[in-house]
Amino acid sequence: MSTLAIEGMQWGDEGKGKITDLYAMKADIVVRSQGGNNAGHSIQHNGVRYALRLLPSGILNEHVVNVLADGMVINPTCLLEELDNLNNKGITKYNLVISSRATILLPYHIEIDKAREEALKGNKIGTTKNGIGPCYEDKAARLSIRMGDLLDLESLKNRLEAIVPIKNLQLQAFGGKPVDIDEIFDLLKDVAIKLKDRIIDTTVFLRKAYKENKKILFEGAQGAMLCLNYGTFPYVTSSSPLVTAIPNNTGLPLTAVNQVLGIMKAYSTRVGEGPFPSEIDGDIAHRIREKGHEYGTVTKRPRRVGWLDIPQLKYVKEISGITSIAIMLLDVLSAVEEIKIVTKYYVDGKEIDYVPSTVFELSKVKVETITLPSWKEDISNCKSFEELPINCQKYIETIEKLLECSIDIISVSPEKDATIIRKELF
Ligand code: IMP
Repeated sequence: MSTLAIEGMQWGDEGKGKITDLYAMKADIVVRSQGGNNAGHSIQHNGVRYALRLLPSGILNEHVVNVLADGMVINPTCLLEELDNLNNKGITKYNLVISSRATILLPYHIEIDKAREEALKGNKIGTTKNGIGPCYEDKAARLSIRMGDLLDLESLKNRLEAIVPIKNLQLQAFGGKPVDIDEIFDLLKDVAIKLKDRIIDTTVFLRKAYKENKKILFEGAQGAMLCLNYGTFPYVTSSSPLVTAIPNNTGLPLTAVNQVLGIMKAYSTRVGEGPFPSEIDGDIAHRIREKGHEYGTVTKRPRRVGWLDIPQLKYVKEISGITSIAIMLLDVLSAVEEIKIVTKYYVDGKEIDYVPSTVFELSKVKVETITLPSWKEDISNCKSFEELPINCQKYIETIEKLLECSIDIISVSPEKDATIIRKELF
């Protein structure tokens, strides 16, 4: 199979970075297709840790072409900082192309994001405050600047003159300072000088690569439950992390996504507000949070913790067409004596066989769980499924049965090679 798409099956932070990094080494092309610097993961390469927010994971491999595709929102200051960080660590040769259709995220998007969260008071979404929502709104309103606009400075100026007065009305409504067209133009002129050679029509590039049977890895960002359409609206991001959005965000046909690898943690976490049916608190949650270092990579917020939630995962498996699963952070569960798995949802005392589409109904969900014994052994050196403690094997087999999907990859510690691969995918 020449393409592989990766999707986070929960609320983000599933450990996608490690698996993406593993497959990025085997790919010709690594594509990020949606979201922006609300994402964040660190990867280990030749003993050095790199924090990536916008750049695809293939960036550390010289032979890989990395694509920031059409559906992305790109904060150019953040992108240039990431590239500088790479340079400072001695990575000077990389292959990066940026879609001329990708949307530019500007400082006023960040201001509006922050002001709006404040204005929502008790109803805030808990965004990463990186301006993602306001930037996608401008795209839908056709009031945004795209990467391709940097290729012609005169028309960029005209575009800013049309857009900025409208943005200023919005900023002033929130009590913010109006922005100056010249200031933004100067910022973008500088970005244009630094990035213009990388801005191309990435759909032409990707379609050609696909026809030539190149190995393409579609890197996931965020998680399915944060999808604007199918997540826990309004506590979601402003794009779709589902693999089904990839064709529309890259210009490739539906058939280009021929294998879908879902990534899930051995338990659940979520940052930000919103319903979370399998949530737990107290000492058990604390032990999992500490052992799993469950604090936001981008915001450093402590993550909310819950048990693995089968109805939620089944829903995501079905809407995304997941064909294979990787389970991450399995070693963390040795922090507790007993592990629970949510197997059923009830609303008003009645069992339901779907994930409610409204926050109103979802917040009424009561869960039924099963309990399995944990293990105390250190699993980080296990090289095969058979080497795992019996209780650990039983946990995996139980999930496979409940989800009706095979778990082909098992991550037993943060290290890159501490991964049991039961089936080669790419
Ligand atoms: P936004 O994407 O910054 O607008 O944030 C909307 C919601 O998505 C918030 O609950 C964020 O915490 C969450 N979110 C966005 N990106 C990520 C991610 O990469 N990992 C986990 N949560 C995320």
